[in-house]
Amino acid sequence: MSSSLTQPAAAPPVAPPTPSQLADRYRAVRNRTLQLAAPLSAEDAMVQSMPEASPAKWHLAHTSWFFDRFVRATRAGAAPVDPDWDHLFNSYYRSVGDAHAQARRGLLSRPSLAQVVDYRRRVDDAVLALLDRGDLDAGTLQRIELGLQHEQQHQELLLTDIKHALWCNPLRPAYDPGLPQRPGVASAMQWIAADEAVVEAGASAWPRAAGFAYDNESPRHRVLVGAHALASRPVSNAEYRAFIDDGGYRTAGLWLSDGWDTVEREGWCRPLYWDEGLDSEFTLAGTRPLDPHAPACHLSLYEADAFARWAGARLPGEFEWERAAAGVAVDGNFVESGLLHPAATGGGAADGHPAQLFGDVWEWTASAYAAYPGFRGMAGALGEYNGKFMSGQQVLRGGSCASPASHLRASYRNFFRPHARWQFSGLRLARDRP
Ligand code: AVJ
Ligand code: FE
Repeated sequence: MSSSLTQPAAAPPVAPPTPSQLADRYRAVRNRTLQLAAPLSAEDAMVQSMPEASPAKWHLAHTSWFFDRFVRATRAGAAPVDPDWDHLFNSYYRSVGDAHAQARRGLLSRPSLAQVVDYRRRVDDAVLALLDRGDLDAGTLQRIELGLQHEQQHQELLLTDIKHALWCNPLRPAYDPGLPQRPGVASAMQWIAADEAVVEAGASAWPRAAGFAYDNESPRHRVLVGAHALASRPVSNAEYRAFIDDGGYRTAGLWLSDGWDTVEREGWCRPLYWDEGLDSEFTLAGTRPLDPHAPACHLSLYEADAFARWAGARLPGEFEWERAAAGVAVDGNFVESGLLHPAATGGGAADGHPAQLFGDVWEWTASAYAAYPGFRGMAGALGEYNGKFMSGQQVLRGGSCASPASHLRASYRNFFRPHARWQFSGLRLARDRP
């Protein structure tokens, strides 16, 4: 057995943005959120379809609250822009005060959508005035950067949450009926072999000289990755259909125990948005024919894991995935493509590397969302951002057709509970190799 130390190129140093560059990015990211909400009426923007999903209006407000609370109000003498609303739009930061119950966000008919849009503008004026003064300390600039990364996470959640809400409406209305489609052909699935190696994984702590990364990506550390093979692309709808046709949802032996309990309790027999006939699915453009070549999507960890077992394979570990993605350009079908749906690329393994690592669907991994050795959360209330969710959740990698491209990187760790399937989540197969 041979073991080697491979050192994927560490991210190249990137100069921190100047205040004026940060102001430009601030305007762009904040506007983008409004653009994503533009197809929604005030009624659409108030719906909460389940406790885990939030109304679009709440996303618009909470992202503003984040800047108000962690950028503006941390400065001496600054009270929240709107003290009466402070607790309404606090998600879960217990150390800064009470938070309105997550499951009751859909009851907030007041403040109105117009008032929330005005709240955004007041927060923007305050943050841009700070950036304009040009004398901000490094910590404030870093929290503005964090606020923009946070806003990008909520841009994706706004889309996945409204998709679920519209699907719950028997009329199955579209978010935007005119979304473009991109027909493609799934390449033949190949196995890309990787030898056993000790690899470096994660990102060194932020702030640092190599661009933004969340605290949950650090410390960068060495891990032993065994000999394995990764699929050249995500599992397609046609492949997932074969699992259904073969009785996958009726075969207890394929499922994790909690997964089988969920199948029985919820009556699961197909992916979340597929119609009963298995030939059409709900999309943000309304109901459309199912593309057999596109990556299978809206799967829970349980379904991804059962499919992999049926296929004689397994889910990749998060470091197998990260090793394959290290040094690979962050290209793919992201929110900027405007499809807002996964699509086949037709591209196969490129230069012996798996393809379609980024974009289309978040890929469930076999890794529990846990702290890396030596993990320390951000200081103060922001320590509640990621670290306190490190139990009962699973890591997903790669980003989706609803993720902003500039938000992703090889070390990025998304996480959801194993039953969650309203995100754009799919899978890539892996298997052991002698
Ligand atoms: C990483 C997507 C699980 O949904 O709570 C938003 C993102 N963190 N605000 C979540 C997040 C703080 C987070 N996920
Ligand atoms: Fe948040």
